Order: sequence, then C-alpha cells, then structure tokens
Amino acid sequence: MKKPRVGSFLSVVLTLVVVYALVKWGIPALSREVTTLPFPLPVPGTLMFFYMVLTIVALFLFVTFSDEGLNDFLRPVKKFLRGGYTKSLRAVVLTAIPALIGWQVYEITVPKMEVPSSLRIQHPSSNFPKSFEAKKNPIANPTEADVDAFIEQAKANEVDFIPQVRDDVENWAEEVDPDHVLELFPTAAMQKLLAQLQSGDVDKDTARAALLEKNLFEGRALYAMNCRACHGDSVAGDGPMADGFKLRPINFTDNGTIETIVEGYTFWRVANGGPGLPAEATPWDSAMPEWKLSLTEAQRWQIILAEYDLAQKTPRIPESH
Ligand code: HEC
Repeated sequence: MKKPRVGSFLSVVLTLVVVYALVKWGIPALSREVTTLPFPLPVPGTLMFFYMVLTIVALFLFVTFSDEGLNDFLRPVKKFLRGGYTKSLRAVVLTAIPALIGWQVYEITVPKMEVPSSLRIQHPSSNFPKSFEAKKNPIANPTEADVDAFIEQAKANEVDFIPQVRDDVENWAEEVDPDHVLELFPTAAMQKLLAQLQSGDVDKDTARAALLEKNLFEGRALYAMNCRACHGDSVAGDGPMADGFKLRPINFTDNGTIETIVEGYTFWRVANGGPGLPAEATPWDSAMPEWKLSLTEAQRWQIILAEYDLAQKTPRIPESH
C-alpha cells in the first residue's frame, strides 16, 4: 500500500511557513541563548526578504523540475478553480486573497500616528558617582612636590617618561643626540626651562609649564595607542574603526560633547566605558572599552588632558565652584 503523502502544493506552503517562522522567531530565540543578552536579536527585514526569496527560488526549481512535479503542484489549484472543492471554501479563499492584499496596501499607505522615538541621552548620569563631580585632573594641576621632583629630574637630565614611550624617547635622543633630553621638545615652555637650567635659576612656574608639556606629550602618545583607532587622529570620532560602530565614537571637537561635562564625568566615562552606562543610554550598545581595566588612573588623566588639548576644548566647571 502506498504511504499517504503530503501533496506538492501543501508541502510548498508548509515549507514557506516553517522557514518564515524559523527566521522570524527561531533565530532571535537562538541568539538569546548564544549571546546571553536579556533580549533577542531581531533578524533585519532585508535579511528576512533574502531568506524568503531564496526559499521561493528553491521551491520553484523543485516544483518545475519535471512535468509531473509541476502537474502535481498545480492539481489542487486547478481543482479548486474548477469548483472541485466545496462552494463555501471557494467563496472564503476568493474573498480572503483580495481582502488580504487590500489590507496590506492600506497598512502601507495609511499615515501613521507614532510616538516620536526617544532620543538617546548623550551624557547619562544616573549612576555617575557624585564624588566624581568635583574631581580635578591631578595631571593638569600638579602639586608642589610633583613640580619639585620634575625640577630635580630635569637638573640631572634624567626625566622619567612613562614606560610606553621610554624606548621611543631613547631612540629619538640617539638620533638627534641632544645635550638635554628636553631639547627634543621645542616648545616655548621647554626652551625657557632649559635656559633657566643653564643659568642655574629655575622658577617653579616655568617648571610647571614644562611639566605640563611633558604630560601632554605622554597623554597624546597614550591617546594614539588606545583611543585613536576609534576617536581618530583629529579627535573628531573618525578613526579607522569608527565606521564599524552603529553608535559612533564621540567627536570631541563637537560642542555638545566633552566641553559640556565636568572632568570628573569624563574620567568616570573613560574608566567605565560602554559597560558602565546606565539604562538611559540604550538601546545603542556603546563599543567604548572599560579603560579602568587596562590603564592606570594617572594614565587615564594624562589621556584626558591630551584629549581636551587636542580638541581645543575646556571641561565644564563643576557647579559648586
Ligand atoms: C572601540 C572604539 C573606542 C575606543 C578604542 C575608544 N572609544 Fe571612547 N567612545 C567610543 C564610542 C562608540 C563612544 C560613544 C558612545 C558612548 O557614549 O559610549 C565613546 C565615547 C567616549 C566618551 C564620552 C564622551 C561624552 O561626551 O560623553 C569619552 C570621554 C571617550 N569615549 C574617551 C575615550 C578615550 C579617552 C579613549 C582611549 C583611552 C577611548 N575613548 C577609546 C568608542 C571608543
């Protein structure tokens, strides 16, 4: 006895339904398992379109592969159109198809009243610790002891650079062969300090200005190593990796960014990155790394000093001042 088999027409319809359901609900459900995020990742409309078109093409090839196949597929359709099934079924199907099409056309064309989508909060601060509000950049405001230590280092021509730039400074000094390592930095403040070192009469303000130059140099180097790929050479958020992110890296030269926040906030944002953002910052996931994991506090402050300097911006002054 022949096994009762599902007709070709019915299997085409079933395949379409199953593929649709898999892409629409199956993949998002699976994505939730894989990513362990608290929400499923939806399949974009265009991808859905591709899947369905591919399925239809495959089914078309399958059905039209032989005359029997095609006849098998068309048999129920012809039977239906010739009145082979009950009258009521015919009436239902022949009304449902135009009604469905009409409904879809109406859905697409009717003007919609929608709640405007809420804008992402650029500087979400609900979990920003208040104690950071008045934090000042210790690198931009060195203590007397820092300045004195720098003067001693400069006098001994043994300026201590951060490990990340030490080799480069050494190679550079070998090439140029200066009398004093600070000659490598031909800025006004450094020149003045060097002149004072020669005359033996160093004043603290000059040394402080020169120390700031050294910190800026190191900060820029750290910026180039860690932040440039996303935020760009020009700090305009246009680094080589920037186009890869839906939520673009911030353009620091833009007026609405680091200029409108206090330094303490910038410090906190750099330390905690995207993972530290509160719920208001969603649904765009930020790719900004959590820098407290790979940079020391001093390094982060140095970068922030360089970041504001490169962007030619000054941080907002805390309210309490
Ligand atoms: C992988 C790319 C990437 C790298 C590398 C990166 N950032 Fe970001 N950064 C972003 C993105 C994306 C944003 C914007 C989204 C957001 O607000 O988190 C951002 C935002 C910021 C903000 C917030 C600005 C504001 O106005 O709130 C600061 C500050 C910042 N980055 C500093 C840095 C510093 C400093 C470094 C290097 C130590 C760095 N970033 C490295 C991607 C990156």
